[in-house]
Amino acid sequence: MEQGSLRPIQVVAVTGGKGGVGKTNVSVNLGVAMARLGRRVTLLDADLGLANVDVLLGLKPRHNLKDVLDGSVGLADVLIEGPMGMRIVPAASGMQEMVRLGPRQHAGLISAFSDIEHQMDVLLIDTAAGISDEVVSFLCAAQEILVVVCDEPTSITDAYALIKVLNQRYGIERARVVANMVRGDEDGLKVFEKLQSVTERFLDIQLIHAGSIPFDDHLRRAVRKQRAVVELYPMSKAARALLRLAETVDSWPIPAVASGHLEFFVERLVAEHRAG
Ligand SMILES: Nc1ncnc2c1ncn2[C@@H]1O[C@H](COP(=O)(O)OP(=O)(O)OP(=O)(O)O)[C@@H](O)[C@H]1O
Ligand SMILES: [Mg+2]
Repeated sequence: MEQGSLRPIQVVAVTGGKGGVGKTNVSVNLGVAMARLGRRVTLLDADLGLANVDVLLGLKPRHNLKDVLDGSVGLADVLIEGPMGMRIVPAASGMQEMVRLGPRQHAGLISAFSDIEHQMDVLLIDTAAGISDEVVSFLCAAQEILVVVCDEPTSITDAYALIKVLNQRYGIERARVVANMVRGDEDGLKVFEKLQSVTERFLDIQLIHAGSIPFDDHLRRAVRKQRAVVELYPMSKAARALLRLAETVDSWPIPAVASGHLEFFVERLVAEHRAG
C-alpha cells in the first residue's frame, strides 16, 4: 500500500466492566502479537488506573494527550515505542476531556490523529473498568468491542451490565468476548456461554467468542518484569493463546467505508458523548 493513501484502519476497544479482569494485559499482548504479524499497531491507553500500559511495559512517557490538547506538542511527540515497534499513546488526565471537547480542540484532535493515520494499521484502545461516559464513548467510537471476562460471577454480571447499556442505550449490535484466566479452552467456552445465555434472553445483541486465555503464572512473571508475556515467554500457554487471539482479530473484516478512518473515530468519540 502506498503511504498516505487512506486505507481503512482497524479500531478495536478492549473493555470488561469489572476491574482486574485482564483488559490491559490483553490489550498490550494483543498489540505486540499483532505487531509480530507485521501490523503497525498503535495502542491508546484510555485508562488512568495504576497498572496502566506504560507501567506494564516499564516505559516512561515524556508527554501525553493533555499536552496535545493544550497544543504544546503534536501527537507524534506523544507516541512512545514499545515491544515489536508497537506504538503507545500514554494515558493522560486529558482522556476525560477528550470526549468533552470544544469545537476548536475537537478539530485539533482530529488533525492530530490524521497526522499519524498513515502510520498505522490497527488502533487498539485499552479502556478503564466500569461504565463511565468516557468508557462508553471509546467503545461506541470503535469498530469492534472486545469484552474481557473471567469465570467469576461479578465479572459476568459486570460484563452483562456493560453490554446491556451498549445495546439498549447506544444500539450496539455486536460484541466479541475473550474469556481470560480460565483453565483451558473448554472452560473458556463455558464462561462465554454463561454470558451469552443471559444476553440472548434479555438483549438484542450478537456475542461472538473471540478466544480464551488460560490462567498462566508466566503472565504474572512477565508483569513483574514489566514485559509482554508474548515477547518474554512466547511458548507459554497464555502467550500462545494471545498469539492465536491476534490472528483471530487480524481476520475480522475491516469496514472499507468512513468508519475505517481515524477522523471518523474522533468524530464519533465526541459525538457519542453528546448523544449520551
Ligand atoms: N491470563 C492470566 N493469567 C494469570 N494472571 C493474569 C492473567 N490475566 C491477568 N492476570 C493477572 O491479573 C492482573 C490484572 O490484569 P490487568 O491489569 O490486565 O487487568 P485490568 O482489567 O486491566 O485491570 P484494571 O481494571 O485495574 O485496569 C495482572 O497483573 C495479572 O497478575
Ligand atoms: Mg487496566
